[in-house]
Amino acid sequence: MKKIGVLTGGGDCPGLNAVIRAVVKKSLKNKWEIIGIIDGWKGLIEGTVKQLSDQDVSGILPKGGTILGTSRTNPFKEQKNVDKLLANIKKFKLDALIAIGGEDTLGVALQLHKMGVPVVGVPKTIDNDISGTDYTFGFDTAVSIVTNAIDRLHTTAESHHRIMVLEVMGRHAGWIATISGIAGGADEILIPEIPFHIDDVCKNLQARHKSEKKFSIVVVSEGAKPCDSDQFEILCEEKDDFGHVRLGGIGQRLAKQIEKRLGVETRFTVLGHVQRGGSPTAYDRVLATRYGVAAVELVKRGEFGNMVALRGYKILPVHLDESVTKLRTVDMDIYEIATTFFAHPHHR
Ligand code: F6P
Repeated sequence: MKKIGVLTGGGDCPGLNAVIRAVVKKSLKNKWEIIGIIDGWKGLIEGTVKQLSDQDVSGILPKGGTILGTSRTNPFKEQKNVDKLLANIKKFKLDALIAIGGEDTLGVALQLHKMGVPVVGVPKTIDNDISGTDYTFGFDTAVSIVTNAIDRLHTTAESHHRIMVLEVMGRHAGWIATISGIAGGADEILIPEIPFHIDDVCKNLQARHKSEKKFSIVVVSEGAKPCDSDQFEILCEEKDDFGHVRLGGIGQRLAKQIEKRLGVETRFTVLGHVQRGGSPTAYDRVLATRYGVAAVELVKRGEFGNMVALRGYKILPVHLDESVTKLRTVDMDIYEIATTFFAHPHHR
């Protein structure tokens, strides 16, 4: 009989509930007790937990968000919080922890593992930027939402002969922009990995508008950086516990610049948290379920300090060290595919 704690940390993501459900159902089959930790690491610091039953996870598979709540709390910001967290692991007699999260949550998990806490990770983020795994759950759902938005922007762009700029999530990696840009047939894709020159972007759009096409779709990651940063300063300086500024505003600035330089009416749309809410796709439900079951198996085998990862068709353990030390950025071969469809590609 084991007692396992499970938590979700960082930004929420479609499929979190599918993981929680799988963790709980698989653990109950093992006759283990499952303790849900409320609001990520914050709950373990404050001691807010809840025992999870089969009933608690019934019907949550298609639901977005997380029934456990989440936060961007970093216990390592203050030693007293680390002490409280360790004391609570003892108090609740947790034999192991399953941490579902992105780079920050898994980074905390790694630090705890190094301190001797038996912890296993599950990679989550719509951004798909965790190393060591082919995909994180939530990404497929975000890509579907963005692709649908591009399709919708296409028809209105065409009617009004406009340029439409769509700002999507992707702080350090442009996976969402690249993959949904390919799926939606974007005419320009700007990602954090490749700082852009506004002149090049305009040259590409102009080449298209000189042909018979009188509209364009530009997809830009929120973290895309212009080489000439003076014209595109970051909107908000507010930082979270892990030191990340709140991004946003690049789409609006870009649209303004394009309209000014090309004289073509340009509008912007910011999809924001729409990309993170709602029901996961079938792909994400299955991936999340496989991750949840595999995480419990890792706990059973005592393979702590690992996260579950998708490698090809298999779910395998990958050491947390490998997953959090380096972000997984966009594969340039895939980005090249996207540029094939630009009128005047410039990202070489
Ligand atoms: O980490 C995932 C992510 O989707 C980033 O792309 C984005 O910058 C961030 O979450 C925004 O999250 P929030 O507004 O919840 O802090």
